[in-house]
Amino acid sequence: METINIESLPMPASRIALGTWAMGGWMWGGSDEAASIRTIHAALDSGINVIDTAPVYGFGRSEELVGKALADGRRQRALIATKVGLDWRDGQPFRNSSPARLRRELEESLRRLHTDVIDIYQVHWPDESVPLEETAAVLDEFRRAGKIRAIGVSNFSPTQMERFRTVAPILERQIESDVLPYARKNGLTVLAYGALCRGLLTGKIAAATRFEGDDLRKTDPKFRAPRLKEYLSAVAALERLARERYGKDVLALAVRWLLDQGRIVALWGARRPDQLTPVNAAMGWSLDDATMREIDTILATTIENPVGPEFMAPPAKPRADAVQRAGAV
Ligand SMILES: NC(=O)c1ccc[n+]([C@@H]2O[C@H](COP(=O)([O-])OP(=O)(O)OC[C@H]3O[C@@H](n4cnc5c(N)ncnc54)[C@H](OP(=O)(O)O)[C@@H]3O)[C@@H](O)[C@H]2O)c1
Repeated sequence: METINIESLPMPASRIALGTWAMGGWMWGGSDEAASIRTIHAALDSGINVIDTAPVYGFGRSEELVGKALADGRRQRALIATKVGLDWRDGQPFRNSSPARLRRELEESLRRLHTDVIDIYQVHWPDESVPLEETAAVLDEFRRAGKIRAIGVSNFSPTQMERFRTVAPILERQIESDVLPYARKNGLTVLAYGALCRGLLTGKIAAATRFEGDDLRKTDPKFRAPRLKEYLSAVAALERLARERYGKDVLALAVRWLLDQGRIVALWGARRPDQLTPVNAAMGWSLDDATMREIDTILATTIENPVGPEFMAPPAKPRADAVQRAGAV
């Protein structure tokens, strides 16, 4: 496993992190407790030590499972990354970074995770109804009190990060064309979600694939006409490229592409141990410049309208219409 040193963390972080949103069940069509715990153990055994979770993932469920999986002496082998600043009502999340909410959330997360310190604490989505500097000051207070080790922000624009950083030092996440250059310029580490494009980049999703229950891929525009066809043809072309150039599959190529962008930790959403088997194929090699250019060409010629994360942004306030699905997170 490749690792990266992140200031203020007690050990090097693996460049692949386990994402546990699906384990919370909510928006991924349910989950299985025993399989989730086995997956967390399998991740640690394969050298993945960053475990990413959030209070909103299953409304406490994902954090509880992480706490349970790490309770039997495994805590010191793991770096827990969790989040703060989303509230929910009637199963609908919304942004809330009021200092009172942040303080309550921290205590609840520590309890669910069975730990007295969180390694990476990320503001999940910016809540502009509270000055970002005030949110930064509260997180810095947690850091100085030894309750969290590193601060991150998620789904922030560079301007929002700039304001936040005047008060508290940060790690950074969410990858966009403007965010990545900002991170590079400022020496920040990016925890990148979407590394597998919700499973599309595993090559195992076809036009006929159906999703169960409340799985967000039922509403994600990437998985619906007309875009699904474009995304699938991109995956097929990338698969051919990966085979021809490196004798690898599209999943290894995709994760390697991401890791080769700089100080990146790639989030790998999994809920069964076998889903982590392909991690090793992405380790220990690099893409050459010609392949990087070819990937750009494939994407530019196959995907006409790429989909960003906007469709899943949680609202600033609780929705009056509680029936409407809130954003994915
Ligand atoms: N900060 C934020 O705002 C934010 C937003 C989104 C995600 N995240 C974090 O990032 C993590 C990853 O989420 P994501 O949305 O980016 O999803 P992702 O990692 O791109 O995709 C996850 C899905 O890929 C499929 N998969 C994984 N390994 C596979 C394999 N070997 N073969 C076939 N399919 C495989 C699984 O689908 P099935 O289980 O259905 O088969 C899995 O649920 C989350 O768990 C969460 O921790 C953070």
